[in-house]
Amino acid sequence: MNFVAAPSTAAGDRRSIVSAVSIIVPTLNERANIEPTIAALERVLRGIAWEVVFVDDDSGDGTAELATALARRDSRVRVLRRLARRGLASACIEGILATTTPAFVVMDADLQHDPALIPDMLSALDDVDLVIGSRYAAGGDGTALGTGRGIASRTATVLSRLVLRQRVADPMSGFFAMRRRAFDEVAPRLSGVGFKILLDILATTKRPLEVAELPYRFRPRRAGDSKLGAGVVAEYLLLLIEKLSGGLVPSRYVLFSAIGGVGVVVHLAVLALAMHGQVPFAVAQAVATLVAMTGNFFLNNLLTYADQRRRGWGVVKGLASFYVICGIGAVANVGIATAFYAHWSSWWQAGLAGALVGSVWNYAVSAAYTWRR
Ligand code: GDD
Ligand code: MN
Repeated sequence: MNFVAAPSTAAGDRRSIVSAVSIIVPTLNERANIEPTIAALERVLRGIAWEVVFVDDDSGDGTAELATALARRDSRVRVLRRLARRGLASACIEGILATTTPAFVVMDADLQHDPALIPDMLSALDDVDLVIGSRYAAGGDGTALGTGRGIASRTATVLSRLVLRQRVADPMSGFFAMRRRAFDEVAPRLSGVGFKILLDILATTKRPLEVAELPYRFRPRRAGDSKLGAGVVAEYLLLLIEKLSGGLVPSRYVLFSAIGGVGVVVHLAVLALAMHGQVPFAVAQAVATLVAMTGNFFLNNLLTYADQRRRGWGVVKGLASFYVICGIGAVANVGIATAFYAHWSSWWQAGLAGALVGSVWNYAVSAAYTWRR
């Protein structure tokens, strides 16, 4: 679109950094909310040159088709379609990067975020890098979340302090305005995992950002359903782990190893039981390996690969491939453990050595086959 400087608003003729703004709106099955969102933006952004970018992850309800039809008639409306992709945070990042205005706003499509706050956010952006629409700043209101999600949101907010470089009241907000220059500094190092783009930014920035928080009342969803589920919680933990490790260790590897650790405990417990039951060592080790392997598959499918989880028949196929891959690892596992046991006759050291060799193999090969995209 053509961003000719717009006539200034009531704010007077003070030259704002925001003469033009892009609104980034991630969508997943939000067809019924597209037109109301555009109408609301039109209402509140009089006098400011704006565009809206709907970043759609191939919604099945025709969200992108509707937005595209509207975009043909209105050059302020744009659509970015992503195929075979999922993720609120990564959608926002790609939407932001597809625009060029000196400032942008990220906002949900369901009108839970109050668009009437945007002009104030843009004015505040004259003095800071980042303006957060805040449920938890004094005067804000997050009660529309309901009791259960309210508690979850508060808990996640407290947990987020582990990775935050600065204290803000609502780091979990999905509603904020930011200067592009500040975003460009952090963009290459963002994790992009999960639901929490703002937290990602706040945990990634090297220099503390200048932040303002504007309170608003979080509203009930206008139409459609929330996409928040168990996978979102797992992805949140992935983001925390990745940021805690300074971004050096990919979160997936950390989680896979942690689950591998649980697997080793399970393995040794089963092995101990079997040894007490006078089962021959090689058989005991094989049974322990099978139990640990099955548990690890399901835990990894639930948590480590929450974003590309195998479902339905995919679980059966995934588990089968996991068995085959790990079967090879298990042969090495049992072989090494048995040799170890013959020399030192310490069943737990032998079991551990075998399990370790197996787990390294499991990670590398299952990443390439079992959970291949
Ligand atoms: N492109 C894309 N891809 N969009 C998505 C995806 C996805 O995988 N998942 C969700 N969205 C879109 C939804 O269509 C909606 O516009 C927005 O992201 C928020 O999703 P909701 O399902 O409505 O989430 P919520 O209401 O539970 O939580 C939201 O509001 C909180 C409070 O501000 C999120 O934005 C949270 O991050 C935020 O903290
Ligand atoms: Mn919502």
